[in-house]
Amino acid sequence: MNESYEMIWTAETEEDTVRLAEKLAELAVPGTVLALDGDLGAGKTRFSKAFAAGIGVPGVVNSPTFTIIKEYQGAQLPLYHMDVYRLSEQEADELGLDDYFFGEGVTIVEWASLIEALLPADRLQLYIAHLGGEARRITITGIGAPYAAWCQQLQAIDHR
Ligand SMILES: Nc1ncnc2c1ncn2[C@@H]1O[C@H](COP(=O)(O)OP(=O)(O)O)[C@@H](O)[C@H]1O
Ligand SMILES: [Mg+2]
Repeated sequence: MNESYEMIWTAETEEDTVRLAEKLAELAVPGTVLALDGDLGAGKTRFSKAFAAGIGVPGVVNSPTFTIIKEYQGAQLPLYHMDVYRLSEQEADELGLDDYFFGEGVTIVEWASLIEALLPADRLQLYIAHLGGEARRITITGIGAPYAAWCQQLQAIDHR
């Protein structure tokens, strides 16, 4: 069983979600995988936009719902932004996602739990719960030693 660590990031405002994404963008390295879940409108794409800006992706990052995967070249790292909502696990398997997960860039997967069996063992999971207004409860689980360490670092930040 992989080491794992869970923490809660409470976002009272959209800016608090942006701060989390910016902090994670600082920690990101080639092969980083962020698995996002949460209902429609929770903020998965909003988080992704802030993360993309954080790694120096120029211009606008939009929801990849219809394109499934979009690639961006950030100043620091490439970004592979996926939305697997419309895919079956078998269709996702045929895309050969490991080329992204274990590639040179960072992968963000929206609706990641739909393809859980295909995700790498080590990853950072973020579940965004919509509490009403701008309030969100973001449950962050670091699976594998490096991501567990990230969680401990996040825990130490006073983000409010
Ligand atoms: N705390 C917050 N975190 C993220 N998004 C927020 C927050 N508060 C308000 N929003 C708004 O909620 C919406 C989230 O939409 P989006 O990111 O597309 O959701 P998803 O990708 O999860 O379906 C955006 O319009 C965003 O501006
Ligand atoms: Mg989205």
